[in-house]
Amino acid sequence: MKYINDERGTGEVENFLINEDVFDGRYLAKCEAIFCQGNGYLGVRHALEEVYTGETRNMFVTGTFNKFHENEVTELPNVPDVTKMVFVINGMPFSLEKGEIIHYERVMNLKNGEVTRKIDWKDQEGNQLQFVFSRMVSMDDQHVIGAKVQILLLKGEVDLKVISGIDGTVSNTGTQHFCEGKMRLHDFKYLEMISETVESKVTAGIYTTHRFWVNGREQQQKVQPIISRREVKISSQIHLKEGESFTVEKLSAVHTSRDQAYIDLELQGKSSEEIVEQIKTDGQNKIKGIYEMGYDCLKKNSEKKWEEIWKREDVKILSENPFDQLAIRFAIYHLNIMVKRDDNRVGIGAKALTGEGYKGHSFWDTEVFILPYYLFTEPKTARTLLEFRYKNLYGARQKAKEYGYEGAMYPWEAAWTTDGEVTPIWGPADVVTGKPIQYLTGMIEQHISADVAFATWQYYLTTKDQEFMDLYGYEMILDTARFWVSRIEWKEEKQRYEITDVIGPDEYKEHVDNNAYTNYLAYYNMNLARDLIKDLRENRGNLYERLDHLLDISRLEKNLGERMPKLYLPKPEKETGIIPQFEGYLDLKYLDLTKYKESTEVLTIYRDFNPEQINEYQVSKQGDLVVLFYLLEDLFDEETKRKNYLFYEERTLHDSSLSKCTHGVVANDLGLSEEAYAFYQGAAKVDLGEEMKSSDAGIHSAAMGGIWQVAVLGFGGIRMVDGQLRIHPALPKEWESLSFRVVFENVPIRVTVTKDQVKLCAGGETKVVLFGEEISLKENVEVLR
Ligand code: IFM
Repeated sequence: MKYINDERGTGEVENFLINEDVFDGRYLAKCEAIFCQGNGYLGVRHALEEVYTGETRNMFVTGTFNKFHENEVTELPNVPDVTKMVFVINGMPFSLEKGEIIHYERVMNLKNGEVTRKIDWKDQEGNQLQFVFSRMVSMDDQHVIGAKVQILLLKGEVDLKVISGIDGTVSNTGTQHFCEGKMRLHDFKYLEMISETVESKVTAGIYTTHRFWVNGREQQQKVQPIISRREVKISSQIHLKEGESFTVEKLSAVHTSRDQAYIDLELQGKSSEEIVEQIKTDGQNKIKGIYEMGYDCLKKNSEKKWEEIWKREDVKILSENPFDQLAIRFAIYHLNIMVKRDDNRVGIGAKALTGEGYKGHSFWDTEVFILPYYLFTEPKTARTLLEFRYKNLYGARQKAKEYGYEGAMYPWEAAWTTDGEVTPIWGPADVVTGKPIQYLTGMIEQHISADVAFATWQYYLTTKDQEFMDLYGYEMILDTARFWVSRIEWKEEKQRYEITDVIGPDEYKEHVDNNAYTNYLAYYNMNLARDLIKDLRENRGNLYERLDHLLDISRLEKNLGERMPKLYLPKPEKETGIIPQFEGYLDLKYLDLTKYKESTEVLTIYRDFNPEQINEYQVSKQGDLVVLFYLLEDLFDEETKRKNYLFYEERTLHDSSLSKCTHGVVANDLGLSEEAYAFYQGAAKVDLGEEMKSSDAGIHSAAMGGIWQVAVLGFGGIRMVDGQLRIHPALPKEWESLSFRVVFENVPIRVTVTKDQVKLCAGGETKVVLFGEEISLKENVEVLR
């Protein structure tokens, strides 16, 4: 793989192109994920048109979760595929594993979301063909996917047959979520497949159509319809002589009954049959419309949307390593295709819509690693994501009850809003017992409730969106506090409250007591709730009454007052200054991690140890205390943070994609610029690195947010402190300049940092704290420091 800028990436697209220059079947799955296309509604992996062993052809529609069997958890299903196209040349299917590749390139243009593949290829008979494959998922119309294949016969004479359509044989690693469905071909042009998920009864309406050109002239090709088990397709044939060309466009449209429009019909009392009829009408209208428009027009419309995105959200980095610029654009591209901005019923999956990994479920990844990007660039989208968590209160309350607690205990893994906890129970093999490892995170990784409360308050501080707080925010913060008040355990012998038997952010340590991150965040959550209740009681009588009626907050306030001050908060040890990550951590055995740290793969420690054995050593999967230093930077003085950062980093394998980014921000805060820059590059390589298997199951959404975090929150020095926007940039020596836009209290501010100057230019009036000095910004008046 080659990601650097070259002659293809100059001018307008400089550092906007991701290139794959060699076809290598071992990288198929990884490339499908990193070249994935989408728009927040649809996610379409870039599986190649022709079929290969080792491919994972995935297309997802956000929110269409289905639970195949009572022993499985719900997951985001693959909807019937429209990307596959078979080209048969003189009877032999085109495949890069046969014949001779003369030239190969696949380029993702992050600027407009299009992926193009150019190939010169000789078949086994010596015929030479040039292929140009282009594909897009529309940013303008969420239901639309377009593909165009241009074929030029450079040498020889061939019979060329194209077989293409809708393939419902797809599964999620063998799990068939959709019923066979109904198929037909309308007007010998428009292919239709209507199928339904087996449990959640989500109907998908998939349509596809084709247009053909011969030697540049559009032609009504004769097509042969084919309907077979779970497949509807057409086949069309042509004879090509040397110098002749053939082009086929494949245009597709997808709707599902989870689309808000159909839910609205349901709410109006329409029957499921009527809704399916409406899906068909919409699908048929859409496919006819896009048939008329054609690929180029669809692409132009999509491109305009991408232009707006880049104008708003580009981060410009002038670095001695152009990869730094490309990496953040790659992150911004994915951050823009993973989110459904207008739908608060869906979250962001740990792999977004780019693969089957983590089954489409959302984790704390969203609130701690991804949300800051939207918070500072598109606060409205941040609000939508938090509203999703508000809707999740249903499942969070259910989970709390199930575990014998009060309030809202957020699911570690969340899917559809009413699903509650969806963490699977069984994982990979245990090297000692040979049995599958049991996942405990769904039961005892509980800090997520406080993470949601933290993010909710960050949103308020950044936007001062009082309406959001009144409708949703107070309830989320107060109900999670109610959970913690009921969760903390009184220890008579120590005369203190504790939180025992948890997993902290570091998932290599199970069943631990008083994990510092969890205890401090729980305390933060409760303390915030106490302040809010006091404020509501004193200043917002009606709202106080409503919330008291709903959540009994007068009792909560009393409980908070009594219990919270007695919650044990781990402190630095007197002699060493080290804060125990949890009780007993410092008594664990030391392990030389060199072998694992040097490995290009993650999780290799599991090849030598099982979870119980790992529990005995000072080894962490990912940042734990370091995340605490990032979120609550004023808890400890700088020296304590530095000592602990160095101590724990040495013991951390960064085996989670969430790890390097936080280390990057904290290292920069601590003045460890070289380390911070290395972590930026490390975070950037989570998906774009050489490791060929890293992203097979999808890209790492949190790492996308993380790349942006290191650049903007780390080197750009952006942070919310006491309700004020703090700007305190410090560039790594490799960077000449950094320029980005943040939004604070609805005012956009462009921040441009060079080695010796910071320039701020706001789109309205606001106050910020720059290098410790409060300054007032006026619309379009530059401030230099
Ligand atoms: O949420 C993370 C967790 O912190 C580490 N394992 C993977 C999860 C999903 O990304």
